[in-house]
Amino acid sequence: MNVQEILSPAGPHAARILELWDVTLALCLAVFVAVLAAFLYALWRGRRGGASDRLAAVTVSIAVALSAVGLVFLTVASAVTDRALARMAEEKNPLTIHVIAHQWWWEARYQDESPHRNFTTANELHIPVGRAVALKLSADDVIHSFWVPNLGGKKDLIPGRDAWLTLKADKPGVYRGQCAEYCGTQHAKMALQVFAHPAEEYEAWAEQQRSPAADPKEELARRGKELFETGTCAMCHTIQGTKANGRRAPDLTHLAGRSTLAAGSVPNTRGHLAGWIVDPHSVKPGVNMPANPLSPDDLQALVAFLSSLR
Ligand code: CUA
Repeated sequence: MNVQEILSPAGPHAARILELWDVTLALCLAVFVAVLAAFLYALWRGRRGGASDRLAAVTVSIAVALSAVGLVFLTVASAVTDRALARMAEEKNPLTIHVIAHQWWWEARYQDESPHRNFTTANELHIPVGRAVALKLSADDVIHSFWVPNLGGKKDLIPGRDAWLTLKADKPGVYRGQCAEYCGTQHAKMALQVFAHPAEEYEAWAEQQRSPAADPKEELARRGKELFETGTCAMCHTIQGTKANGRRAPDLTHLAGRSTLAAGSVPNTRGHLAGWIVDPHSVKPGVNMPANPLSPDDLQALVAFLSSLR
């Protein structure tokens, strides 16, 4: 199930935020009901002549005092939640991921204590259930905002200034995230998915991500690889284990293992992939990837190669 929902938290940070949300909702509901009741009472009284000036002054004073108490209470509740989240961020042995926001996609660099175990992926995060995930957040161009509501709160990504956000999933699932700060034309198509797996399953995924792309066996895919390396693709994209090492666009080493293309814009199928390569602007107008008017044979070869990148 793929959800983006603040009301069903899948981790302790999101659950803590939901408590604040519940308290705020309850208080606002009480205020709304009280105001409505006072209004109806005033209508009813109005017909039989108004209240005395003294009674009116006392009533208004009480209402003002109650409003002030309510506001102070919410301010304190918000600060308490913030402190609680800050304490929860001090977890031992977190998984560290450096997330870099670009117009309009997410780069994810998985960091390990031994640098040779680092790897890079895009638009999909995989995390182990029950282990804290420390996200280092940066922006490459303009301000973006990282938001996966099932797992935690929002955090802005500001160019030139790193921010940190800690999350934890306590049950497996797929949680949708969305850039939550307007960042240009395709802000809406800047989604990411977080896959929370049991620990062993996560380790297997990470181990596979560390391996370079396998050499294609099929003749068609082999030709696609050559096209990728010698054409314009390699100027922007990296595929580990090949000559392509561009750094402007998503790392495609294990592209075929992803469920969507173009930051959650379309499902990752051969048809969508071919359409995206030929004319990305019909899917995502304004995107940095240029159109690639390839011959049908070349396109088939390229798609065969990219689809082999498990
Ligand atoms: Cu990135 Cu909105």
